Amino acid sequence: MIIREAKISDEAQVRRIHLQAFDSSENELVAGLACDLLHEPTIPETIHLVAKLDHLPVGHVAFSPVWSNNKHQLLGYILAPLAVIPGQHKKGIGSALVHHGIDMLKQRGIGSLIVYGDPNYYGRFGFQEDLAAPYLPPYELEYPNGWQALIFDSDMVPTSAEKIKCVQALEQPELW
Ligand SMILES: CC(C)(COP(=O)(O)OP(=O)(O)OC[C@H]1O[C@@H](n2cnc3c(N)ncnc32)[C@H](O)[C@@H]1OP(=O)(O)O)[C@@H](O)C(=O)NCCC(=O)NCCS
Repeated sequence: MIIREAKISDEAQVRRIHLQAFDSSENELVAGLACDLLHEPTIPETIHLVAKLDHLPVGHVAFSPVWSNNKHQLLGYILAPLAVIPGQHKKGIGSALVHHGIDMLKQRGIGSLIVYGDPNYYGRFGFQEDLAAPYLPPYELEYPNGWQALIFDSDMVPTSAEKIKCVQALEQPELW
């Protein structure tokens, strides 16, 4: 398996991965998010990774920056979305994508990584609900216990809870 950064030219493959991986109730929404993120320039940059197996793209993940609500301070990154095509599950591809992104964020001096997803999956990487308490989500959450964080540098964690601001692609209430 090879993991590399995704380019705009990977858009069709990235869309296909999410359309296949997610349930029909949400796959269009998530695939649209993945493609919107690919097109949205951000500072600092959004990280997109694709996993390839036998030259075929089989997994994708994105990590985008989050700021304090007034956008004056970078608070960390958020992981969304993550998907691996159904025929390739349980081979460590999802984990490899997440670990690869975590390593890149640490190398860039990022203080924390938030995720909104299944704690039964993300717990294996050390994400915890209590670590996300200093970061208030931008919208009311359908599944509040899915709001978790991983802290790389505790000195960079806000001392009081801050509502976060996400990139434009994530500013859609139906995603939360
Ligand atoms: C979640 C997903 C990315 C995992 O990809 P993967 O390549 O199979 O992941 P890995 O091989 O690294 O890990 C697989 C393990 O995670 C477990 N797992 C997968 N989804 C899980 C979930 N929602 N809850 C608990 N465990 C989960 C698998 O059972 C497997 O367990 P095992 O190691 O004991 O066999 C993939 O199942 C997927 O694309 N699902 C649909 C989209 C999705 O739900 N994305 C995440 C949004 S929160």
